[in-house]
Amino acid sequence: MTEATICVVGASGLVGSNITKAALARGYTVRGTFRDVTDPTKAPYLLALPEGEHLELFSADMANPGAFDPLLENIDCVFIASLIPTYFGPAGKPAREMEDEQGYQEIVRPTLDGCLNILESAHGAGVKDVVICSSTSSTNPIPSVPNKNEVDHWSNEQEQYSVKKYTSAAKTVMEKAAIQFTADRDMRLSILLPTLMLGPAIIPEHANRGFMKSLANMVAGEPPSHQKIPNDSNSMIHVDDLANLFLAAYENPKAKGRYFGVYDSWPWQRIYAAIAELLPDAPMPEPLREPMIDATSFDFTRRDSLGVPLRDIPTILKDTISWLQATGQRLRIN
Ligand SMILES: NC(=O)c1ccc[n+]([C@@H]2O[C@H](COP(=O)([O-])OP(=O)(O)OC[C@H]3O[C@@H](n4cnc5c(N)ncnc54)[C@H](OP(=O)(O)O)[C@@H]3O)[C@@H](O)[C@H]2O)c1
Repeated sequence: MTEATICVVGASGLVGSNITKAALARGYTVRGTFRDVTDPTKAPYLLALPEGEHLELFSADMANPGAFDPLLENIDCVFIASLIPTYFGPAGKPAREMEDEQGYQEIVRPTLDGCLNILESAHGAGVKDVVICSSTSSTNPIPSVPNKNEVDHWSNEQEQYSVKKYTSAAKTVMEKAAIQFTADRDMRLSILLPTLMLGPAIIPEHANRGFMKSLANMVAGEPPSHQKIPNDSNSMIHVDDLANLFLAAYENPKAKGRYFGVYDSWPWQRIYAAIAELLPDAPMPEPLREPMIDATSFDFTRRDSLGVPLRDIPTILKDTISWLQATGQRLRIN
């Protein structure tokens, strides 16, 4: 057990709520933040967590410089899980229809500035340890490499701009700026790089989006979001394991730099075959007719150095589906 106090920025998010849960279970005192902590669809679920009496919630918007100044006083580590992917500008224009200047101003900058605003507040408050949630979208060099690692393999933001992937570029640009900012100020920064996260949701809304929603539909006997099995692969991790990786990155004083927050990547064909074993009566997407591509391959040396045991993909799927079955109608998707 620990006496440390941490701040989780984005505590109502999928990642942030699981970091909060894991930290409370280990005895941390947690300051959780999101933009409106009076939101009845979020705060009550966090405050009802085991050890929730050690959680305090505060409203703060990372877009406002200085908003985190008072919240980061007397904090041992700040976990930043609020750098959400933005796919549309403020007026609703899709990122993929923008030119570079607009893509940078409306998609890249909110992530970059939001992160730097939090880091400025952390530095001002004397916080030395920071763990950021980014994404594997910053780890895709062109041409692709056969076995990627977190040290050598970066996406190139200019290449991402050139194909209008401003949403992905935001992560690449943000990570580089955060690494520079913390290096210049002698702060210790770890960055976790996940893709798909599955597992029981703390806040019901998290089961109503992305692949969780598709799985919930299948549990309810409805079709998945994929009409046809994509000839692609997908990386995944259990949300509880990801939260443990975040805490390990803080708790291990030697941890620093980027870490994959991924268990492994499987082709979708294999993922759906595993789901079919768990849900034999569920509607499935049309099968793949062409030869299956190889899944993305990772070098997990750094991830494994954090010493966190991780559930394999069949266990991740089984745990998620069992939870969806048990919660049933409460999470039934319209
Ligand atoms: N979910 C995934 O499958 C996935 C996959 C790969 C990477 N990631 C990465 O993981 C990180 C967290 O994602 P997530 O899925 O947990 O996101 P999420 O569920 O949408 O949660 C985002 C959190 O940040 C808060 N937030 C959003 N905008 C904010 C702002 N301007 N100021 C302060 N707080 C703000 C949100 O609360 P309010 O909106 O109430 O303020 C919420 O607490 C992101 O960097 C994302 O790219 C996620």
